[in-house]
Amino acid sequence: MRMMSDRDVPADLIATAVATAGTAPSGANLQPWHFVAVSDRDVKKQIRDAAETEERTNYLNGRMNREWQESLAHLGTDWHKEFLETAPWVVVLFEQRYRHGPDGLVLHNYYVKESCGIAAGMFLSAIHNMGLVTLTHTPTPMAFLSKILGRPDNERPSILFPIGYPAEGTLVPDLTKKSLTEILTIDRPIDPPGSNRFRARGGT
Ligand SMILES: Cc1cc2nc3c(=O)[nH]c(=O)nc-3n(C[C@H](O)[C@H](O)[C@H](O)COP(=O)(O)O)c2cc1C
Repeated sequence: MRMMSDRDVPADLIATAVATAGTAPSGANLQPWHFVAVSDRDVKKQIRDAAETEERTNYLNGRMNREWQESLAHLGTDWHKEFLETAPWVVVLFEQRYRHGPDGLVLHNYYVKESCGIAAGMFLSAIHNMGLVTLTHTPTPMAFLSKILGRPDNERPSILFPIGYPAEGTLVPDLTKKSLTEILTIDRPIDPPGSNRFRARGGT
């Protein structure tokens, strides 16, 4: 979803989605994540401006190579990121690459990317189940987010989520997903996708 309305979303919903993400499993239960939720217009504008500066270099000045650009072409994306300003919320997930022990010693976090990836997925599901929409957005390099949001050195921005409702007349890419047989290898027979077992209940 890349076209957002400015209709507001109560802060409680954002907090509930983060609480859901916070129940994710993580390496050694170290929970190496921090979410920053922004609704302030000026801060969202700073984020948009900085993201567009990076994305302009990615799209127009060759930082994204031809193969990458060709892979994205069917999505119709470009360097414009208006949704970062129109969405009522922008939530940034930071990965905590390491932590500090009580004596100030630097301690490892484990499986940081895997743990944060699972937390991000749970966050997305919570947002969608609330009837809200978002985009998994990575305007790389994302160091500008640490600066704008004043985050410590042990954290690295991972994903930016604009959150809200779709704009009137929103268009989305016409995407399909791989079939179950392409993504599943299973050692017992199952009903093929499209059989009754996979149809919605209540039909005739
Ligand atoms: C790690 C990750 C990074 C992504 N970064 C961007 C991004 O920077 N900009 C964007 O428009 N979409 C981004 N996407 C969204 C994907 O393009 C999108 O998920 C994909 O096209 C499938 O569409 P769907 O999420 O609607 O099923 C990203 C998705 C993932 C998982």
